[in-house]
Amino acid sequence: MGTTLKTSKISKFYEKPLGERIGILKEFGDLTDEEVSQLQKFGALEFETANRMIENVYSTFALPLGIATNFVINGKEYLVPFALEEPSVVAAASNAAKLSSGFEAKATAPVMIGQIQIVKVKNPKVALKKILAKKKEILESATAVDSTLVKFGGGPRKLEGKVINTKRGKMIVLHLLVDVRDAMGANAVNTMCERISPIVEEISDGETRLKIISNLAVHRTVKAKSVWKKEIIGQDAVDGVLDAYEFAANDVYRAATHNKGIMNGIDAVVVATGNDFRAIEAGAHAFASLSGKYKPLTKYYKDKGGNLAGEIELPMAVGLVGGATKTHPIAKINVKLLGVKTASELAEVIASVGLAQNFAALKALGTEGIQRGHMRLHAKNIAVTAGASGERVEEIAARMVSERNISVSRAKEIMEGK
Ligand code: MEV
Repeated sequence: MGTTLKTSKISKFYEKPLGERIGILKEFGDLTDEEVSQLQKFGALEFETANRMIENVYSTFALPLGIATNFVINGKEYLVPFALEEPSVVAAASNAAKLSSGFEAKATAPVMIGQIQIVKVKNPKVALKKILAKKKEILESATAVDSTLVKFGGGPRKLEGKVINTKRGKMIVLHLLVDVRDAMGANAVNTMCERISPIVEEISDGETRLKIISNLAVHRTVKAKSVWKKEIIGQDAVDGVLDAYEFAANDVYRAATHNKGIMNGIDAVVVATGNDFRAIEAGAHAFASLSGKYKPLTKYYKDKGGNLAGEIELPMAVGLVGGATKTHPIAKINVKLLGVKTASELAEVIASVGLAQNFAALKALGTEGIQRGHMRLHAKNIAVTAGASGERVEEIAARMVSERNISVSRAKEIMEGK
């Protein structure tokens, strides 16, 4: 009685000033003054910028930024920023790059697919033929959408189509292929698809429904490869990685984790550069399943000298123009630090990172296991969680590792001198 009921129905939250927004959340979530002052620390991404990026902003979410060292890709030296919360990932990638003989990477032209779904067509096969016969006009109309893209050498390239059989009848699916140059491409492609949809509706006498980019960017892929010399990593590591790879290639449960390890590195760079990591994830896993069976995104074999050769291939729709890459102040610095001049170069760096990350995981898992190294870092986190600070963090972590007992309760006991 007398207490107000909590409600999530808040009208025009986005129009309220920041103080009022936080006030509402404080009340809703019973936040303390200290918690509120944590939320108010915006850091490098200030409220005004964050508020332009998404809706209903009330704070920002910080992640550690670590730099991966030792990357030499296509003969060029890179320091690679990683944004992620997981211990060991940056160290593992740096070590894998150090042990490697460098990376060779090559991205394809940045061609994205836009999909248009056409329903209620009387004779879809005939209608599709009619649409494709007018390809030239349709592509011209799509080209008119984005003169900047065309000025930079991009633009619509191809129109393809197929008929799919569904529970709701036959549908036409058009693929508009667009070279998006240094953009991620979603905006340009979606706009083009919307622009040409009245034309294809008229030709097909059908109705368009979805007009949207496909994240399965099979025309915008990147490959990277490297060699790890057997004299450097040892015969056991060569065999360990090969056995681990065969496991993933023949078992979907392992393949999922194998690819997760690859994405540890890939997502970290994608996030650090302000790119869309959900798009990259969706594309990677769909690509891994393209054969009808979910497969590892890397492969390993012995080269003629008996060294370990590794390769990776996956879609890589990352951009350098538009989106958070151009608005997020830290993303901008990270791109500068990386020194990449094109989206394709960024893709090549990211693929090399994915391969390095995977090699590191397989080498550790295939030989000594990952827990030892992982636990050292984990122990530090546990010590901080238990309330340790300053030099005590290292000391308590080292003790817990040597005792092989890493837990918040043990950290607390050590702090109490037990
Ligand atoms: C953990 O984040 C990633 C690994 O599980 C990857 C793998 O198993 O290959 C270590």
